[in-house]
Amino acid sequence: MKSVALTTTADTRPYWEHAGLSVVGGRLAIAGRDAEAIAREHGTPLYAFDLSRITEQVAALQRALAGAGLRCVTRFSMKAQREPEVLAHLRSLGPPVTPQAIGADICSPVELASALAAGWRGDEISYTGTNASDRDFEAICAQPIRLNVDGLSQLRRYARHAPGGSVGLRVNVRYGAGHGGRYAGSDYGSDKPSKFGFYEEQLPEALVIARQAGLTITSLHFHAATGLAMDDLPAFTETVRRAAAMVAFLLEAGCPLDEVNAGGGLDIGASADRPVLDVDTYAAVLAEHLGPLGPVVSVEPGEYLFGDSAVLLAEVVTAEDRLGVPFVGLDAGWNAAPDRFIYQVPLDVVLCRDVLPGSVRATTITGHINEGDDVFAEDYPFPEPREGDIVAILYAGGYWQNMVAPHCGRLKPPAVYFAERLGAA
Ligand SMILES: Cc1ncc(COP(=O)(O)O)c(C=O)c1O
Repeated sequence: MKSVALTTTADTRPYWEHAGLSVVGGRLAIAGRDAEAIAREHGTPLYAFDLSRITEQVAALQRALAGAGLRCVTRFSMKAQREPEVLAHLRSLGPPVTPQAIGADICSPVELASALAAGWRGDEISYTGTNASDRDFEAICAQPIRLNVDGLSQLRRYARHAPGGSVGLRVNVRYGAGHGGRYAGSDYGSDKPSKFGFYEEQLPEALVIARQAGLTITSLHFHAATGLAMDDLPAFTETVRRAAAMVAFLLEAGCPLDEVNAGGGLDIGASADRPVLDVDTYAAVLAEHLGPLGPVVSVEPGEYLFGDSAVLLAEVVTAEDRLGVPFVGLDAGWNAAPDRFIYQVPLDVVLCRDVLPGSVRATTITGHINEGDDVFAEDYPFPEPREGDIVAILYAGGYWQNMVAPHCGRLKPPAVYFAERLGAA
């Protein structure tokens, strides 16, 4: 197969670059350290984190929300991250309930235990889960957390656990935004009936159940966006507009809502040709539609806070042409990068010693799980590999560690967490 020239050259910076994930002399650096050297020292496969990136993303989010004039609460979605080292870092950003502190949104008793163990107070935590059992509610109701239920049956079950308490309703606005339009037809927000959230026509019944149980509805939650790109702006705006109409309905019905939670959705630079929805535009949409209604606006992103804080380092154990196609085989598999396989998000793989190569070939990159679809990328522009090379799979900071499955005895890779960036001014 012929080599082809890359459009990226040594003088164009890769779109994913930031201060903690940079190119130094053509080589990849993480937190100011040579990526290949990190892999040689700690072994592969290995997640390598630049914790400062998380600090920067939290600060950018908080700045944007405040800059849009919103009274706001920031939490992180724990389904995206609950490694103790990352939790300790997040907790260190600010003492409880200070503007720099970030709360946690959890979706199970285990996540609640992780949050409490890492030092969060109950009143900094919200719960937005699904199909919660009596056991789940028992554990969760033991803490003064803000709890969102996502359907009539769940509301009745919760009422048995906490009669006379307060509750939030997760709603389904039948609309969604993100992932190149895929979220619009997803289980999170479309006309397809899904398990998530109260539909508009169920709200009157929810009000009756709440009244009978002496429950006060104090928050509304909607999560109907993920991987937001600039071209998702109209769909995202419509999603928020619909949620705002449901907030107005509940306020008019006399519910003393003090919080509207807009869920997650922000993305990091997940593709070269699709700019992400920037955090200021995102905040402006929330401010325009939700700000005037009165309640505090909260958000609980995952990918935006964590995605590009880490890479997965792996060794090239196979480099050969197969029926004319260049194949690279890695000592990491789909189980260590599962969100690519669950959400069909394309992956970016970088050769650590040659990040901006002069020529590339359309390459298939595979993993070490004994399954045929353990394929990271096909037709992927990749330089000439050598066995023993180290590659970095980008955007490994969110979800991946939580989703790891030990299939074929390939266990969860270890991780290194760098709190300081070497060479930073
Ligand atoms: C309820 C809820 N909130 C927040 C998030 C975080 O989403 P994202 O990573 O797109 O910001 C998710 C993830 O799907 C979610 O289910």
